[in-house]
Amino acid sequence: MQRIMVLRWGHRPRDERLTTHVALTARAFNASGMILADVEDRQIKKTIEDVVSKWGGSFFFQMGAPWKTVVQNWKAKGGIVVHLTAYGENIQSSTVLQRIREMDKDMLIIVGSRKVPGEFFSSDISDFNVAVGNQPHSECSSLAVFLDRFYQGKGLVKGFQDAELRIVPQKHGKKMLS
Ligand SMILES: C[S@@+](CC[C@H](N)C(=O)[O-])C[C@H]1O[C@@H](n2cnc3c(N)ncnc32)[C@H](O)[C@@H]1O
Repeated sequence: MQRIMVLRWGHRPRDERLTTHVALTARAFNASGMILADVEDRQIKKTIEDVVSKWGGSFFFQMGAPWKTVVQNWKAKGGIVVHLTAYGENIQSSTVLQRIREMDKDMLIIVGSRKVPGEFFSSDISDFNVAVGNQPHSECSSLAVFLDRFYQGKGLVKGFQDAELRIVPQKHGKKMLS
């Protein structure tokens, strides 16, 4: 099965919540895992592990590896790199998503935070620069929309194995099974 990994670049300690939300978005929208580039943050690791143990499924998490090493290793194993950026090819008005699907390869999705290194835009690093609309917004929203479109909505109904907690969808109110 195709592996989809998120590479979170540019985490700062004050970004703790946002980086956690990138990981939760990756997991909920069916990525296989997330690599937090260049830095280590034990709190984020713990939060993700807690969520996985309660809400199930498997989710790979690694932190501290230099972003370039991650990209080089990924490409050496035959995977492609997709950089989400407002400056890229528009996911709606171009054929970029179709071309990515046709590759049918493991995919590393880079999301940034502050201004990303210029190298990210080059073909040495990114096989595709994809814009979820050409307006600036957020790493979480761009990742969610990209993955949802990639999986054509199917990811939203996927079950997570060995979950301690499961939500039973309701018209009104809250129902959980544990
Ligand atoms: C808050 S934005 C900051 C971008 C930064 N100011 C820059 O110019 O590179 C953080 C991240 O969200 C993602 N992002 C924001 N808007 C996007 C868009 N329209 N399409 C795709 N990704 C987007 C990108 O991964 C970006 O690195």
